[in-house]
Amino acid sequence: MPKIKKAKTICITSTKGGVGKTTVLLNLAATYHLLGKKVLIIDLDLYGGALALALNLKNKKTVYNVVDDMMNNRFMHIDDYIYNYIEGIDVICAPKDPRQAMKVEAKYIDLLLYNVESKYEVILIDTTHILTEINLTIMDSAYNTLFVVTNDPVDLKNTKSIISIFNDNQINNYKILYNNSRDTGKDYFTTFDIKTVIGSNIDYTISKNFYIKDIDNYTINGKILLLDKKIQKAKRKDFQNFKNMALDLIKDKKVK
Ligand SMILES: Nc1ncnc2c1ncn2[C@@H]1O[C@H](COP(=O)(O)OP(=O)(O)O)[C@@H](O)[C@H]1O
Ligand SMILES: [Mg+2]
Repeated sequence: MPKIKKAKTICITSTKGGVGKTTVLLNLAATYHLLGKKVLIIDLDLYGGALALALNLKNKKTVYNVVDDMMNNRFMHIDDYIYNYIEGIDVICAPKDPRQAMKVEAKYIDLLLYNVESKYEVILIDTTHILTEINLTIMDSAYNTLFVVTNDPVDLKNTKSIISIFNDNQINNYKILYNNSRDTGKDYFTTFDIKTVIGSNIDYTISKNFYIKDIDNYTINGKILLLDKKIQKAKRKDFQNFKNMALDLIKDKKVK
């Protein structure tokens, strides 16, 4: 019997809000799409998720309905909760109301992933920056976790703590993305300083040049930056960085 291929799940997270997680996730989704991979995005930033808005989706159902229906034995088919952005990029949206967000329990995350894993090549999960039980569960099942860090002392201090916890527990399926495009005015630390402070290598970098002045227009119009040929051309180097990062995050791991 042919082996069913399972999607590689990437958790995108950080220790500080507003560092560019969602922007990175959307552009990674675009990059995988351009590399010919079928992508599912799951918005598990339960209280602040904005992917449905950023992609102009007119969704009725959210991850809350998935969990609620599973709890009440009404769950039939995961396709009922999946919205199509463009051919090859699908989305499961975040709850619309905080009272619903509260009811999404971590124990349902694995069941949710089990239902989508065989349909996609890559699953990208957006998260909150707070280390909740949901985030821990996602990181536990993910093939890789991508930490987005910026040139910010509090962000770096908290990233250091989490990385030392990972190292103490021999968890090594995480990567660090240094995002320079978010706060282009901040220049406190050199790359060397950052590596020293967080006690880890920096795996990928997005440069200042990827700062997009009219980024809100893209959000309002439901467009992803790197699906725009003008941006691909104008930000050629960072586009290449996105491609390298996308391939590296799903690279097969050497079995010892
Ligand atoms: N490359 C960029 N150029 C300009 N603004 C950006 C860029 N990346 C992120 N931003 C802005 O920074 C804010 C936070 O980004 P977002 O991706 O929502 O971060 P997070 O998901 O970590 O909260 C948003 O207003 C977004 O438009
Ligand atoms: Mg976000």
